[in-house]
Amino acid sequence: MGKLAVGAWFASESESVMERDVSTHRPVLLGEVIRFLNPRDGGIYVDATLGGGGHTEAILRASAPNGRVLAFDRDRAAIYRSSKKLAEEAGRLRFISGSFAELGAHLDEHGTKEVDGIIADLGLSSDQLGDPDRGFSFTLDGALDMRFDSDDGLTAADLVNQLPDDQLADLLYEYGEERRSRAIARRIVQRRPIHTTKQLRAAVVSVLGPRRRGIDPATRTFQALRIAVNQELAALDLFLEQAPGRLRPGGRVVVISYHSLEDRAVKHAFRSSAADIRYDVLTRKPVVPDAEAIADNPRARSAKLRALVRVS
Ligand SMILES: C[S@@+](CC[C@H](N)C(=O)[O-])C[C@H]1O[C@@H](n2cnc3c(N)ncnc32)[C@H](O)[C@@H]1O
Repeated sequence: MGKLAVGAWFASESESVMERDVSTHRPVLLGEVIRFLNPRDGGIYVDATLGGGGHTEAILRASAPNGRVLAFDRDRAAIYRSSKKLAEEAGRLRFISGSFAELGAHLDEHGTKEVDGIIADLGLSSDQLGDPDRGFSFTLDGALDMRFDSDDGLTAADLVNQLPDDQLADLLYEYGEERRSRAIARRIVQRRPIHTTKQLRAAVVSVLGPRRRGIDPATRTFQALRIAVNQELAALDLFLEQAPGRLRPGGRVVVISYHSLEDRAVKHAFRSSAADIRYDVLTRKPVVPDAEAIADNPRARSAKLRALVRVS
């Protein structure tokens, strides 16, 4: 079972977390993930971003009765929730409490050299967004945390209270594409210390004004901080370097991204893999959800799926 000790974690958590132990996350582009991954009986698959377990559950179903899934997440709450949801499939499922940035090391540790498919559905889940204690949401007040792994690294509060304003502005501009990054960074510095999501949102609103075209003014600032806190682009680059080399012939890597910088990284990495004749890109253009899927699941709005196959 990898490094996970569900029992120990369960015992140390508060009741409020236990109440939230059923996932509300709805998997994005589920049909397309299964079509590109093409799971088969007896295959071995990696879900690099387990979350609420929606993609894992579908892969297990499509690869029944003997297909197996190694499921990663940096968030132990996600692993705990999914381990309960998928308890009946425990024999075909292994959880890895760690980052997909260390894909190769974790597969080695599990004695798995190559697999038949790898899916990474980037970003955060509805479960994380909807939990005020995690500090991802500007609509719920909570401590400004934003770490996927609550035991690891600096929080968003550490960044907003410690970074010099020019570095804070660069971060908001680069990861959030926030055009007013300099003014927002200056205001944050004036209002330090900032400890809660509500205080941060108020600082942003004091610069940008209230809601613009249905989008909360704090959206870009929160997104940028989350990407920085979790070093998401660096983790993605490391994953993209390792994943193609872990495929068996016929195996596929499928990545769903929600941010232009992520999609660009996936596109370039797949293109350079395909310079090797053993690999081919399956998606000349990214696959995006149709209007019906977006109406049904607004989280899918900015999703872009790309897939790579190892042909020989
Ligand atoms: C969009 S959700 C995945 C949802 C999932 N596909 C489902 O169907 O429920 C993304 C998940 O990836 C996890 N995550 C983000 N970065 C990670 C990383 N570097 N390594 C492992 N998990 C990561 C987050 O904690 C979150 O639970």
